[in-house]
Amino acid sequence: MLIDRRELIGLAGALLPLSARASGSPDAGLHGLAGGRKFGSAVAWSEAGADRGSFANPRYDRLLRTDCNLLVAENEMKWQALRPAPDRFDFARADAIAGWAYRHGVAMRGHTLLWHQPKWMPAWEERFDFGTRPASRGAAMLTQHVETVCRRYPQIESWDVVNEAVAPDDGSLYATALSRAIGSAEETIDLAFRTARAAAPGAQLVYNDYMSWEPRNAGHRGGVLKLLEGFRRRGVPVDALGVQSHLVTQGADAAGAARTQARDWRDFLDAVTAMDYALVITELDVRDDHLPADPALRDRATADYVRAYLDVMLDYRQLGDILVWGMCDRYSWLDGFMPRRDGAKRRPCPYDADFQPKPMRAAIADALRSAAPRPA
Ligand code: G3I
Repeated sequence: MLIDRRELIGLAGALLPLSARASGSPDAGLHGLAGGRKFGSAVAWSEAGADRGSFANPRYDRLLRTDCNLLVAENEMKWQALRPAPDRFDFARADAIAGWAYRHGVAMRGHTLLWHQPKWMPAWEERFDFGTRPASRGAAMLTQHVETVCRRYPQIESWDVVNEAVAPDDGSLYATALSRAIGSAEETIDLAFRTARAAAPGAQLVYNDYMSWEPRNAGHRGGVLKLLEGFRRRGVPVDALGVQSHLVTQGADAAGAARTQARDWRDFLDAVTAMDYALVITELDVRDDHLPADPALRDRATADYVRAYLDVMLDYRQLGDILVWGMCDRYSWLDGFMPRRDGAKRRPCPYDADFQPKPMRAAIADALRSAAPRPA
């Protein structure tokens, strides 16, 4: 097997102590502080050397190898990426990410076997003719997808089996053409989990959603609790709640916001864990709203907010791995999806747009150091 020069440099680099290679990080990497948990990040695919949040970007690769022992594909394992047509799978980009993880001894989690909303399914799915026996055809389509993807990546130890199936406004379940064919959203979601358990018997099966601790999340939290209660009532194999943790600052007073928000949030987490669900922080980042444009002020406020949040979350022994939704501001989804009204670039991640560590990285490190190690 030929190893190209970049690979050789990478391999040589991998032999150095992480701290010797780190881009300014004052410790041996965030994953080294996580006390029995893994720490990781979402990662994208790109052509070699592209200016993307990808393992193929040497500057981003360095952040991943400094701080992460766990990765999740930001987009490449979704239906929209894997399924160009009803009778086709395209695994090229997902395989490339899995290959990088394997070569660097980094674990992977999977996102997501079913993002149960029409706009996040492939366009062909919403137009698909499920024929004269739609329930059977729909079940076959979903079963084939889950089995094929789980079996291709047996190394994946935790799957977001279903993502964001609960409408935040009223807690109801979204419908898709697939669920209308199968019969109901509930039957569709249950089938996804039952199929995943059979296809990936050793994997942690996760329901992943973005309900959060900020104001105006009570309906979303209630809908998720109702779904989790139903899983237990119906005996559906769901092991954990994926708490995406796309936080939104409520102003500069992080401690004040935490005092206001922590009680309801702990009530929610207590209810989830009382049903014997584990917790995973799957997509941590911070939307720096209600803050002036000044970068130093925003960085301080977002760091304090993340620290307050993680201190609550790390109180729960049920909390397992922690992932951020991207390591550096330069590639965050937020600027495209929810830009600041003042036009200032968002600052949601542990590293800035020049790959330098920010106060948020230090806040994460401090929270991890202060937390009780996770029980074995
Ligand atoms: O790859 C195509 C490219 O070929 C095409 O030219 C371009 C323009 O259409 O689109 C590219 O795909 C985009 C993809 O990101 C990769 O950049 C999609 O349009 C775009 O919708 C997609 O956005 C992603 C979004 O999920 C929807 O899948 C974001 O990057 C990603 O950060 C975001 O992540 C979600 C989690 O999966 C679930 N939780 C919320 C989180 C944030 O929304």
